[in-house]
Amino acid sequence: MADPDFIRETLDDLKARGLHRRLVALGSAAGPHVKVGRRSVLQFASNNYLGLANDPRVKQAARAGIDRWGWGAGASRLVSGHTEAHAALEADLAAFKHTEAALVFPTGYMTNLAVVTALAGLGDTVVMDRANHASLYDAVVLAGATLVRYPQCDAEAAARLLDKHRGGEGRRLLVTDTVFSMDGRTAPLPELADLCRRAGAMLALDEAHATGVLGPTGAGLAEELAVTEGITASVGTLSKALGGIGGFVAASRQACDLIVNRARPFIYTTALPAAACEAARAALQIVRTEPERRRRLLDLANRLRTRLQEAGFDLALEDPPVSTSTPIIPIILGDPETALGLAAALLGKGIFCPAIRPPTVPPGASRLRVSLTAEHTEEDLERLVAALATARKEAAPQSQAHSD
Ligand SMILES: Cc1ncc(COP(=O)(O)O)c(C=O)c1O
Repeated sequence: MADPDFIRETLDDLKARGLHRRLVALGSAAGPHVKVGRRSVLQFASNNYLGLANDPRVKQAARAGIDRWGWGAGASRLVSGHTEAHAALEADLAAFKHTEAALVFPTGYMTNLAVVTALAGLGDTVVMDRANHASLYDAVVLAGATLVRYPQCDAEAAARLLDKHRGGEGRRLLVTDTVFSMDGRTAPLPELADLCRRAGAMLALDEAHATGVLGPTGAGLAEELAVTEGITASVGTLSKALGGIGGFVAASRQACDLIVNRARPFIYTTALPAAACEAARAALQIVRTEPERRRRLLDLANRLRTRLQEAGFDLALEDPPVSTSTPIIPIILGDPETALGLAAALLGKGIFCPAIRPPTVPPGASRLRVSLTAEHTEEDLERLVAALATARKEAAPQSQAHSD
């Protein structure tokens, strides 16, 4: 291979700034305890919030799905990759989200690309929360729309932007994560829905981290806050609380029809395997029938937040204030080296919790991102708090810890 110089130079630069990332191969299934090399470690690093990634019923549904449908879908949805399993999952998801229709995708990332590109294009304006997921930023680039951003959760600033971009031919689309992936904050949905309605703008939600976690039936933050009006499209993933792979959008029949006809990330890629759809249906059934899983998860999250605060960690609970409990808890540390040092020290104590650094979070806001699952125990949390307190004293800057 003849690598041009910029490859090594770029990597050297990332290393010098503490921003180089590397893969860590796990040797076991997802769960609160995983194998890293020969060690079993306690992990706080996954989005498997309800513990469904390794649930026997979900696995059995996937196996039965493979027996019935084979593994690969063989083609894109519009060619021959669409099966009755996709249709059944989409009907389940529409019922779950109380919408006319839903569409599934191979990933949540692609779902966001599809939704934004279907709703906005050249000459249109996308108003985004600054802390939105990277896939939404990429979606605006792919759409060719104008991107304008407001500070995290600042509905008044969003209103000003909608107003500023009123007029002309272009459409306006406001897009927000409902639970922000790197700090667990929740978006001010009632305010945003209200101002979009008044401004005549579309509203698209990314409920990736809320799906299966928030709301009386687990449908997400909109359900939790009883926001039913004014949402054009609601994106979720099958890959986090639902424990599998894939993404989905819930919307009107017409909006889904538009996506099928216009969204390149839907049209030009091979369909999600039907077996993954069967597994997602089983997971959804568990979400519906076992609400105690999300209750336990959020109880654990509340407990850990309190314990970490008592231990003096900065959880960024203010500005904007954290109003709804979620299973994502950031421990703000500042510079990348400190975050890496603490992650490495934790790993030395048998705890796997990733350091998150720029560009995933803004400069100066490197952190550990603690994420919980309903399978963690109270003892696991106490072990984490104790290890963090000791590691904080011991940590020295270094660059070989596990990271985002
Ligand atoms: C807020 C948010 N949206 C979308 C995605 C993409 O979902 P997926 O991992 O299913 O592609 C993620 C996570 O990766 C996310 O955190």
